Amino acid sequence: MKVTVVGAGNVGATCADVLAYREIANEVVLVDIKEGFAEGKALDIWQKAPINLYDTRTTGVTNDYSKTANSDVVVITSGLPRKPGMTRDDLISTNAGIVRSVTENVIKYSPEAIIIVVSNPLDVMTYAAHLTSKLPRTKVMGMAGILDTARYRAFLAEELNVSPKDIQAVLMGGHGDTMVPLPRYTTVGGIPVTELIAEDKLNAIIERTKNGGGELVKLMGTSAWYAPGSAAAQMVEAIVRDQKRVFPVCIKLEGEYGINGTYLGVPVVLGKNGIEKVIELQLNDEEMELLKASEKAVREVMDVLDNMPVNA
Ligand code: LMR
Repeated sequence: MKVTVVGAGNVGATCADVLAYREIANEVVLVDIKEGFAEGKALDIWQKAPINLYDTRTTGVTNDYSKTANSDVVVITSGLPRKPGMTRDDLISTNAGIVRSVTENVIKYSPEAIIIVVSNPLDVMTYAAHLTSKLPRTKVMGMAGILDTARYRAFLAEELNVSPKDIQAVLMGGHGDTMVPLPRYTTVGGIPVTELIAEDKLNAIIERTKNGGGELVKLMGTSAWYAPGSAAAQMVEAIVRDQKRVFPVCIKLEGEYGINGTYLGVPVVLGKNGIEKVIELQLNDEEMELLKASEKAVREVMDVLDNMPVNA
């Protein structure tokens, strides 16, 4: 299996590293526009192979998409990260043009690839890549749900002093402040989380999760990379190993949850064909209201993209 990661910054390089050391693909190509940058990162990862004992071949290229030809999966991490004080939506004017042009290049050489978008604003960049690629919606998806759910699970594990491995959760909606963690679908070793934690503590964790990316931007002056890069690699793994994993993933909704045409995170089954099934939960009125509010927020940013000049 051949996987391309576009963007050799922190997130892209972390993703390539996880793909290599966990031998998720035989070949990983890292692409960047900065001369020598992807080559250097890929060489560093390759030089780690004799230490960490893997044989995934990692190579880097400067903007030469011919080297990415016939990739099975392509992860797009290109674009600017946000700085303190910015929302993800503030990145749209810069990142939309980048994601469009990257997608064009990717599709030119790998017309059958499955595309995973990581660039922000996530849901709308997934929309941009889907429009440009003209692929079926099941083959163009956004990575955010695994990341947001991981943050929620990590905070719960810390609060309850249990292993994060035992926390299962679903989180839906856009990758922003309106994301919808679902306590009703959160369990700890099979026990409903609401039996183990006080309501005020759970609400505080939900709020912290919603601002999880912003908390890190504030601490580091730039956005996160270990968890986002690993989350993208986990999606690649589910696809290349045909694992049929159930993850929250951003996809264009076509009637599910009564929503049409908006790109939102929902639980799906991920396998060799990309998104093989969208799972429709029986949300209660309160949960549905939160999902609709999240849809409205994403829709507003999709409208901004729709009104941008095509070559912006
Ligand atoms: C994240 O959630 O870490 C990413 O979306 C980056 C960001 O700007 O928060």
